[in-house]
Amino acid sequence: MEKRGGRNQTPIVELILLGFGNGPELQPLLFLLFLMIYIVAVAANLLIVVLVVADVRLHTPMYYFVANLSTVEICYVSTTLPRLIGSLATGDRTISLQNCFVQFDFYIIFANAESGLLTAMCIDRYLAICHPLRYPALMNGRVCCHMVASAWIFGISYAIMLQIFFLQLTYCGPKEIDLLFCDFGSVNRPFCGAFTKTMHQLTFPFSIILNVGVFLLTLTSYICIIVNILRISSSTGRQKAFSTCSSHLIVVSVFYGTVQKQEALREIFEVEDED
Ligand SMILES: *[C@@H]1O[C@H](CO)[C@@H](O)[C@H](O)[C@H]1NC(C)=O
Repeated sequence: MEKRGGRNQTPIVELILLGFGNGPELQPLLFLLFLMIYIVAVAANLLIVVLVVADVRLHTPMYYFVANLSTVEICYVSTTLPRLIGSLATGDRTISLQNCFVQFDFYIIFANAESGLLTAMCIDRYLAICHPLRYPALMNGRVCCHMVASAWIFGISYAIMLQIFFLQLTYCGPKEIDLLFCDFGSVNRPFCGAFTKTMHQLTFPFSIILNVGVFLLTLTSYICIIVNILRISSSTGRQKAFSTCSSHLIVVSVFYGTVQKQEALREIFEVEDED
C-alpha cells in the first residue's frame, strides 16, 4: 500500500461525493424527493418541539426527552440533507476536504447525542414500567436535565476524540467517494500516516466500550421492560404499558439498524496491515 501521501503526489484537498451516480435525468426527481423529505422532517420535528414547549401538560421528563430528540433530529438532517439537495440542484458534487470534516464532525456529534438520548429515554421507560412507585422520585426535572446534558457531552466529546485522531493522519483517498454525505466511517481505509496504528490502539477500545456499553444498556433495559410487561396479568394493562414504549423501541431498532455504528467505526480505525 502507498505510504503517507508521497512527496511527488499532490495532496487531496477536495473530494467528489458520487452520490447517486451519473444519471442527470433522475436529478430533478431526486432533488424534489430530498427537498420534500427535508421539509417534512424539519416541520414534523419542529411541531413536536413547539407542542411540548407550549402545552404545560406535556412538561414531564418523557416529553422533554421526546422534544430534545426532535431537536437533535432537526440538527441531524440539517447537517446532511441541505448539501445533498444543493448538489442535486447544481450538479456540483465536489466538496473541500475541510468542509467534509466539518460535516463529519457535526454528524458524529448529533448521531452520538441521539444515541445518548435514546439510551436516556430507555432508562426513563425502564424506571416507569419496572419501578412505577419509585418513578416520580427517581425521574424528576433535574435528573432529566442531567441526562440530556450527558447525551450532548457524550456526542461532543466523541467528536473531539475523533478529531484529535484525524489531526494526526493524512487523508489518502479515494478522491471520489461513493457516498451521499461525508461519512468517513463508511469509506474503506481512507487514512494513512505514521500514527495510524498508535491512534488505532488508543481510540479503538475507547469507542468500542462506549458504543457497546450504550447498546447493552439499551438492550438490558428493554429485556427488563418486556419481561415486566409480560408479567402484567390484565391484557389492557399490558397493552397500555407496551404502547408507552413501542414507538421508542421502533426508533431504537431503526437507529441501530441503519447507522451500523460498529461496522462504520471498525472501518475508520482499520489499519493497513498488509505490509
Ligand atoms: C430538553 O430537556 C431539558 C431538560 O429536561 C428541558 O428543560 C428542555 O425544555 C428540553 N428541550 C426541549 C426543546 O423541549
